[in-house]
Amino acid sequence: MAQRDGYSRIQIALHWAIVALVLVEYASGELVEEGSRTGALALIHVWPGLAIIALMLLRLAIRLVRGAPPPPRSEPELLRRFAVWMHWAFYVLLIAIPGGAALDWYFGLGFGQVIHDVGEPVFFALVWIHIGAAAAHHFIFRTNVVRRMVVPERQGQAH
Ligand code: HEM
Ligand code: HEM
Repeated sequence: MAQRDGYSRIQIALHWAIVALVLVEYASGELVEEGSRTGALALIHVWPGLAIIALMLLRLAIRLVRGAPPPPRSEPELLRRFAVWMHWAFYVLLIAIPGGAALDWYFGLGFGQVIHDVGEPVFFALVWIHIGAAAAHHFIFRTNVVRRMVVPERQGQAH
């Protein structure tokens, strides 16, 4: 897989678009938890969830073809490995959670909703660690890690 100095414009756009959709999922999931499975639920929770699957698959394809920048060299080896695994865990969870739920929703495969319900708290726990790590990088270790998820890599900078 290619090693890069930064993320592309499309990788950055997808990262933040998916963050926005996850916020919608969080808010609507809480709202509809006790609700019935009617139209409003589909509009505000199911469809954005399906959009997440599509965008994550697109993102995964780009990630596999184009690659991503490695964690900063200044970081201890163990944390570098942890960061890489965390990122792959997000890819897996954000396909499995909505994908599983959709299997139940559309095909009545109950185990799918179990994947959604078990995966969802794990996912949000990882998100908090991810945000904490981003804050630590920015404010304590003062690396360029947050900047590179905001400013795209310049053309021709790849190795
Ligand atoms: C990444 C995408 C998704 C996230 C982060 C997410 C998150 C949540 C959260 C936080 C809740 C409320 C807490 C809970 O009861 O577990 C919830 C409930 C629910 N979600 Fe999702 N959801 C996603 C995608 C989907 C999709 C695509 C569907 C259907 C196709 C779906 C169906 C449901 C249902 C039926 C409930 C209420 C019943 C229940 O979980 O017990 N979710 N979701
Ligand atoms: C729904 C929540 C989020 C998810 C699922 C998520 C997922 C991811 C994934 C999968 C990557 C790795 C990209 C790749 O290698 O292809 C990443 C990188 C990154 N994310 Fe998030 N993210 C979320 C929220 C946030 C938030 C709120 C922030 C800001 C505080 C943030 C800041 C970053 C930064 C700075 C990177 C770059 C890390 C690096 O270059 O090593 N993320 N995110």
